[in-house]
Amino acid sequence: MIQIGAPLAHDFSDPLSVLSDCHRRIEHFLSVLVTVTRQSRGGALDSEQRDALQVSLRYFAEAEPMHTADEEESLFPRLRAAHHAQAPAAIAIANRLTDEHRNVRAHHDRVAALVRRWLDDDSLPSDAIGDLAKDLDALAAIYRRHIPTEDEELLALARGILSAGDVAIIGREMAARRGVTPSPGPVYRLLADDHVRLDALLRQAVAKPGEIDRAAYAEFRKGLLKHIGMEEKILLPAAQKARGGEPLPIAGKLRLDHGALAALLVPTPTLQIVGTIRTILTAHNAVEEGPGGVYCECERLVGNDLDALLAGLRAAPEVPVHPHVDGELVVNATRRAVARAGYDPDALHL
Ligand SMILES: [Fe+2]
Ligand SMILES: [Fe+2]
Ligand SMILES: [Fe+2]
Repeated sequence: MIQIGAPLAHDFSDPLSVLSDCHRRIEHFLSVLVTVTRQSRGGALDSEQRDALQVSLRYFAEAEPMHTADEEESLFPRLRAAHHAQAPAAIAIANRLTDEHRNVRAHHDRVAALVRRWLDDDSLPSDAIGDLAKDLDALAAIYRRHIPTEDEELLALARGILSAGDVAIIGREMAARRGVTPSPGPVYRLLADDHVRLDALLRQAVAKPGEIDRAAYAEFRKGLLKHIGMEEKILLPAAQKARGGEPLPIAGKLRLDHGALAALLVPTPTLQIVGTIRTILTAHNAVEEGPGGVYCECERLVGNDLDALLAGLRAAPEVPVHPHVDGELVVNATRRAVARAGYDPDALHL
């Protein structure tokens, strides 16, 4: 049997698929009610039937209303606000579904009252079991139209209409409704994927023992400078704006790390320099990506401006890359920047 709290097939990073997963549960728990009603026709219940009725009742009392709220309070308002050629068609369907939700609720309320009476008395008179069967038949008939309309028409339209930001916000609202930690959104994925790409380039740069692959390092250097620019010029300012001008508490530390990394990219790379960059990035990226980390926090803070933030990051310019500069002044400046970020340049053999 499907358990109410069992993990869904999809997570809240794909909220539209979660809505479809919920439809499978509605179908399942309704069929449980129908089956037990047909089997025992108001007679005494064995423990398995009793459990089945109780779990289904709880599903329709607790989980199904959240699903309706997901649609009416999170999905439908985004469709109504969308500027898209297909939006009017989706809104017409959403309006029809909203009316049906009210109708469904009335049947569920009557079903719940009758099943509770059955559980309490361990029997249900024939007129009441007739009413229960009628309400269950009515629900089954409504859902037979309602669910395919949502799965095959509305959700299909919604996938074309909603922006990545809309989808992320819907997912976050659905997670919050259930007291669950939200899944990372598109800004997180963009920047975390960039970490993976940069990490692979840096590993490639030192893949041969004792040697530095200059082409891979040059690609890494260009990419890291752009990545730092995206965070310093776009991401952190967006979070600061969303906080009424107050920077994120961690912003100062991130900027010191970025300063150290940028300084380490100035001289011709050595194995010590590459090692130091890796040490700093390992800790730094964890702070940005971690659960409740900077990226997730920025997504939460910007709320409805998520699309604008994502567009800004995607359009971020390449950063001009200058030739390496070496010498004592550069070595000293690099050591100072690394120390300011909280690392010991001597221990790192800089
Ligand atoms: Fe639904
Ligand atoms: Fe960073
Ligand atoms: Fe980063």
